[in-house]
Amino acid sequence: MSEETTLVIVKPDAVRRGLIGEILGRIERKGLRIEAMRQMHIDRDLAERQYDEHRDKAFFGELVEFITSGEVVVARVAGDQAVSVVRTLMGPTDPAQAPPGTIRGDYGVVITENLVHGSDSPESAKRELDLFFG
Ligand code: RTP
Ligand code: MG
Repeated sequence: MSEETTLVIVKPDAVRRGLIGEILGRIERKGLRIEAMRQMHIDRDLAERQYDEHRDKAFFGELVEFITSGEVVVARVAGDQAVSVVRTLMGPTDPAQAPPGTIRGDYGVVITENLVHGSDSPESAKRELDLFFG
């Protein structure tokens, strides 16, 4: 057993489409635990800190616009190998390429509107959980 915690964000597209329960339900049914959660609006400053690693990328502006475009649900998710298990449930970044059975594969086509965020490593999880639940 390798107990971990990770940050999940149900992104604005998924909230607008009524998919909060669907996404968090998949995470719960997999066997992970939602330890804390809240619905909120991410402001520009927090969005830029969350996605700091992408600051120099061409898509950074679009990414910040999108993640601040509506309410999100942020959750602290815990369980065995929670970081990689959530990433597996999400599927690859581009929903058009994501296989059926994954969240992105089942519900998306546009790369920006890819429904869900999950921390990509235990180190990222710690940094991101501090931002939202610290
Ligand atoms: P996330 O951080 O949101 O969980 O997504 P991820 O790890 O799968 O992907 P990442 O490389 O961290 O990229 C962050 C978000 O930026 C948008 N993106 N757009 N237009 C593009 O080429 C492009 N590449 C990435 C995606 O919305 C991605 O979730
Ligand atoms: Mg990422």
